[in-house]
Amino acid sequence: MAPNISATLQSKFLAVNDIIESSLLIPDPVLSATLAANAAAGLDEIDVAPTEGKFLYLLAKLSSSTRILEFGTLGGYSATWFAKAVGEEGKVITLEVDPKTAEVARSNLKNAGFENVVEVKVGKALETLEGLKDEWKRGGEKEFDFIFVDADKVNNVAYLKYALQMIRKGGVIVFDNVVRQGRILDGKGSDGSTNGVLETFEFLKVLEREGKVESTAVQTVGPKGWDGVAIVRIL
Ligand code: SAH
Ligand code: DHB
Ligand code: MG
Repeated sequence: MAPNISATLQSKFLAVNDIIESSLLIPDPVLSATLAANAAAGLDEIDVAPTEGKFLYLLAKLSSSTRILEFGTLGGYSATWFAKAVGEEGKVITLEVDPKTAEVARSNLKNAGFENVVEVKVGKALETLEGLKDEWKRGGEKEFDFIFVDADKVNNVAYLKYALQMIRKGGVIVFDNVVRQGRILDGKGSDGSTNGVLETFEFLKVLEREGKVESTAVQTVGPKGWDGVAIVRIL
């Protein structure tokens, strides 16, 4: 919970979340098994919340997405939502830097029956992307319909630059964690250090004014505290 959100308020956020979740999210044993396996493996509980997972799933379906790229796999929870959205004929490529974490994800995706839909690529996302671009030059890969950016936030601007080269016109890019309990307000440290989120907005601001994208962000509250997502449509 965010230290700057009162316990009363946070408990109300959770109570409302419970109403939404119990009303609209039909329990899926595959998703529950993934969260249980992640906890057993000691992964940080920084997956998207269930309501956000379904939100991403709906966005993917609404955009008729069948090819999805994800930065930041963790245990494959959000990737499982994407696999559900793209169906058996679709493809999800997800990038994870930590080999042990990637193994947990692969095992979860196999147990979920999605090993042929989701490919987990291990390595620093920026290096893996260079490899993907080479495959493209040889004609082995196609554009993505949907890109979800949810890895190390300091590289968000670099990820956005890659995403713009790899996404189709009309495609969607979503950034997770653009508020981070209000940390976006901290701006740059005195040493110039930054969490990368403000720079993402600065970059998007330019793209908006150049008529290259349509974008917005919404703040969220719930089991993951106070956060937000940015959504970008490529023109
Ligand atoms: N999308 C996941 C959560 C991702 S958490 C879900 O909602 O289920 C962020 C993940 O990004 C972590 O697993 C972390 O190891 C990974 N990560 C951090 N830096 C990275 C990098 N440079 N390249 C690829 N993955 C990275
Ligand atoms: C962190 C990363 C995430 O992707 C997230 O959703 C929440 C927290 C983190 O690195 O702290
Ligand atoms: Mg996240």
